[in-house]
Amino acid sequence: MPTILETFEATHAGSRRFADRARQVFPSGVTHDARAHEPWPIYVERAQGARKWDVDGNEYVDYIGGHGALLLGHNRPEVMEAVRGALERGTHLGSSHDLEVEWGEQVLKMVPCAERVRFTSSGTEATMMALRLARAFTGREKVIKLAEHFHGWHDIVVGRLREDDPHPYSVGVPRGFYESLIVLQPGDTDALREALSGRDVAAMILEPTGAHWGTHPSGMDADYLREARRLTEEAGTLLVMDEVITGFRMAPGGAQERWGVMPDLSTHAKILAGGLPGGCVTGRAEVISMLEIREDIEWNSKRRVSHQGTFNANPASAAAGLTALRLIETGGETDRADAATAQLVRELNAMFQAESVPGSAFAVSSMWHTNLGYDAPRPGDVEWDAAEEPRGVPDELLRPLRWALFNHGVDLMGTGGMVSSAHGERDITDTVQAFRSAVDDLRAEELLD
Ligand SMILES: Cc1ncc(COP(=O)(O)O)c(C=O)c1O
Repeated sequence: MPTILETFEATHAGSRRFADRARQVFPSGVTHDARAHEPWPIYVERAQGARKWDVDGNEYVDYIGGHGALLLGHNRPEVMEAVRGALERGTHLGSSHDLEVEWGEQVLKMVPCAERVRFTSSGTEATMMALRLARAFTGREKVIKLAEHFHGWHDIVVGRLREDDPHPYSVGVPRGFYESLIVLQPGDTDALREALSGRDVAAMILEPTGAHWGTHPSGMDADYLREARRLTEEAGTLLVMDEVITGFRMAPGGAQERWGVMPDLSTHAKILAGGLPGGCVTGRAEVISMLEIREDIEWNSKRRVSHQGTFNANPASAAAGLTALRLIETGGETDRADAATAQLVRELNAMFQAESVPGSAFAVSSMWHTNLGYDAPRPGDVEWDAAEEPRGVPDELLRPLRWALFNHGVDLMGTGGMVSSAHGERDITDTVQAFRSAVDDLRAEELLD
């Protein structure tokens, strides 16, 4: 009987050949930290709907969904058609164009806080711009972020992950950045009040569902968000909701619509550009207007925030984004993805219970996670409702779990994944069955009780 790893290795020989070549080209053989995987990552050849196929011909139910960009699933025909149409007209017009205006208007129509918008090429650039705008607007330097919350990889947001950790999260960030960075525990309104009391903080930035798209949901409920909104407003600090993942997913207008909390600025990417590269900062006109070029020389040289970017609002991204957002605005796409996720979580928890598996699944909107290897609380329904923080899957179990799920046709993102409106009954049934088989495999190797 081959082991889980032996089965993975035997059925992924083609991926291994690419990984061997990639190691000679890229550090760790990958182009994104999250894609590094032992003994080697899978190499994917094509994707359609909720599925993808690797170079060895293995089929997977895909829960990475373009790192969250594909709320509509892979290759949604309307989006593909729009991209083809844009490409016919040129990949880069080096000028303003009609599609960027329509795309921008669509953002203003859908996002509650949006009075003006500026496009960037990624979510990292969007959060970088939002913080710079907040500093320029308030004339203050400090930024509050919450422990573990992820906002891309530029200097200030990776400066330090946790307040009590003296080490930088990423080496290469100048020490001086720490001076303007305050890291707080999510849910701690007293600490927030204290941090804001000097009235010297430019912005508070947060992931509205909790760190890493809800992997750490504790403390991040609508009440905390409302209190953060109230306290920042009182202190003259801008609230930046990082909706790079939640935007156009938790509702057509994102977390701010679903939870009724209006930030000063919000940052978007991923779904915004319909599966192609793109990001934006949107929000209060008077803050976004810090980017305006005016007749006033003093303003231009001393007050304004400058912004460039070769591929900002490129025609292909604009076409994909505009089409995707229009479908999301009217098509019930977010509801369908949420419903599929809820069904998946309920069925996984029923299976865990029936098979006495130590673990649980939970979700917020169409983002789900699992705990495995300990007697984890199960949510009353779908959303995490226990007082304690979910512990997830320990590293020593996560690798064999991922291998086993690859062997049974499921590709997770982290300990769960992103669900699209293309995920249907068969995808859910196959996923639950794959988990059941993976549990059997883990038990056979005495990795799970
Ligand atoms: C909440 C959040 N903000 C910002 C980013 C950075 O976006 P990008 O990868 O487009 O630079 C990410 C990426 O996953 C994210 O999840």
